[in-house]
Amino acid sequence: MKKIIIVLLAICLPVSLWAQTADYRVIPLPKNVSTDTARVFRLSTGMGIAYDAADAEMTRNAQFLREWIEELTGIQLQMTPDDKKAAIRLALGLPGDKKGRKAKKAAPLTPQQQEAYTIAVDDNGIAIAARKHVGLFRAAQTLRKALPVVPPQKRVSEKGLTDGGAFHKVEIAFPFATIQDEPRFEYRGAHLDCSRHFFKVAFIKKYLDALALHGCNQFHWHLTDNEGWRFEVKALPDLAEKGGWRECSPLRRAGLWDDVPYGGYYTQEECRELIRYAEERYINIVPEIDMPAHIQSALKVYPNLRCDVQNVRGSDQVLCGGNPETMDFLKTVFSELCDVFPSPFIHIGGDECPKGGWQRCPKCQAKIKELGLKDDGKHSLENQLQTWMNRELASFLKERGRDMIGWDEILEGGLTEGGLVMSWRGTKGGIEAARQHHHVIMTPTDFCYFDYYQLKDHDRQPNAIGYYLPLTKVYSFEPLDGIPEEEQKYILGVQCNLWTEFIGYPQHVYYMLLPRLDALSEVQWCRPDQKDFEDFKARLPRLKQLYDRIGVNYCRDME
Ligand code: ACM
Ligand code: ZN
Repeated sequence: MKKIIIVLLAICLPVSLWAQTADYRVIPLPKNVSTDTARVFRLSTGMGIAYDAADAEMTRNAQFLREWIEELTGIQLQMTPDDKKAAIRLALGLPGDKKGRKAKKAAPLTPQQQEAYTIAVDDNGIAIAARKHVGLFRAAQTLRKALPVVPPQKRVSEKGLTDGGAFHKVEIAFPFATIQDEPRFEYRGAHLDCSRHFFKVAFIKKYLDALALHGCNQFHWHLTDNEGWRFEVKALPDLAEKGGWRECSPLRRAGLWDDVPYGGYYTQEECRELIRYAEERYINIVPEIDMPAHIQSALKVYPNLRCDVQNVRGSDQVLCGGNPETMDFLKTVFSELCDVFPSPFIHIGGDECPKGGWQRCPKCQAKIKELGLKDDGKHSLENQLQTWMNRELASFLKERGRDMIGWDEILEGGLTEGGLVMSWRGTKGGIEAARQHHHVIMTPTDFCYFDYYQLKDHDRQPNAIGYYLPLTKVYSFEPLDGIPEEEQKYILGVQCNLWTEFIGYPQHVYYMLLPRLDALSEVQWCRPDQKDFEDFKARLPRLKQLYDRIGVNYCRDME
């Protein structure tokens, strides 16, 4: 009956065609896009999307694409597995790739090559091909961003009715095209501090969606800091139960200090749920437990782990490097962290550790003696003690098949074998680490700290930590500047950091993130010769329409 009414309405009411064109010049810009705008393939409701029904991962990616097309345009596609004539067809295998024994003999694929995909649009429709499922996902995201956003009032509503009495048929014209794409860097990350402010699992999922939209494949999850311990450790239940809470709001510096207790933590089950969610979006979660500083939330629960000295206050309080219980504590924590997170790298923090307490602490000084650490004129004894802790943890992680990552301070006491360096105090730490043949992730404050203001006029913006990082500056970052060619292979990639001292709500997080992540995604994905800020700026409005459609905030001004 319902169908009959719709058909009758379609016959009786004036039918108008709402046709718009897809634009493949999305953000980040694919490596090669060649289009023939004179010829188009038209997509509309009722057409099919084909995939291998025996392949669950491909099915999931086909479903993602179907949902995204409906969300942005209202066009409803049928899931038509194995239909060779379907309008959109997903398949594994790239033309020209070797198969069987020949493939085994060929040079192994780089991680970037494993993400490669092609999209071909012609009379037969849209053919997506990729070496691996991740490539199908990347291709689906490219098509999603290529879509025009059809205003809801222009769509046929559920009842088949229309706005203003007109019956709209939505049709998207896809110009004939060949697209070939793969990313520049293998590590394309974004970080979120969930200690200074706690964000619910539902929001972390949305954050992961935003990363996936930008081709990011790493989520650096800052789980602990002075202000709150967020990771459940089953052997030490008080750590999150008590260390996850503070007596009052964290917004003191913004003049918003109150007496309302604030906190929360993630259970291991919730972490596993997020890991699964991230994996379905081809994102690895890199968990960070920050030590030996930035750890007052744990010291509050286990004061015995502090140095036994007077007059060490606030964030100068750190784990005692000489107390054997410290290493037991850390191994308990990192052991459970490894049980939960499958990430090939685990972040141990290591940043901003004041050493005043260690210089006066009898246990720390005894440990320095016991280890036979000597003044080498380059690294202080206390920095060497921190390196000893890093090395202990690195070998503990290695036994579990993981590599250690640390902030660039881990260079200060001498680098740890196999350790990855996250270069945040500029790029010099990263350049030095690459010189020593260590892998590096570039995340310098000047280009990658999204807790900074993005406009000069602070009054027009929500709170930020200070400083100034406009969109243009993010876009201008070249991570390989200053790195000799033979050492460039050590730079795995780039990441933005979002510290949340002043950011307490999801829409504020999005505001700080977007559109700066759009700019960073071109640093992460595109070759330098593809980059052009004016061209990027012209491509941004379409993505902003998508943000509006999915209800995601962003900074509307641009500097
Ligand atoms: C940092 O921003 N302290 C790594
Ligand atoms: Zn000590």
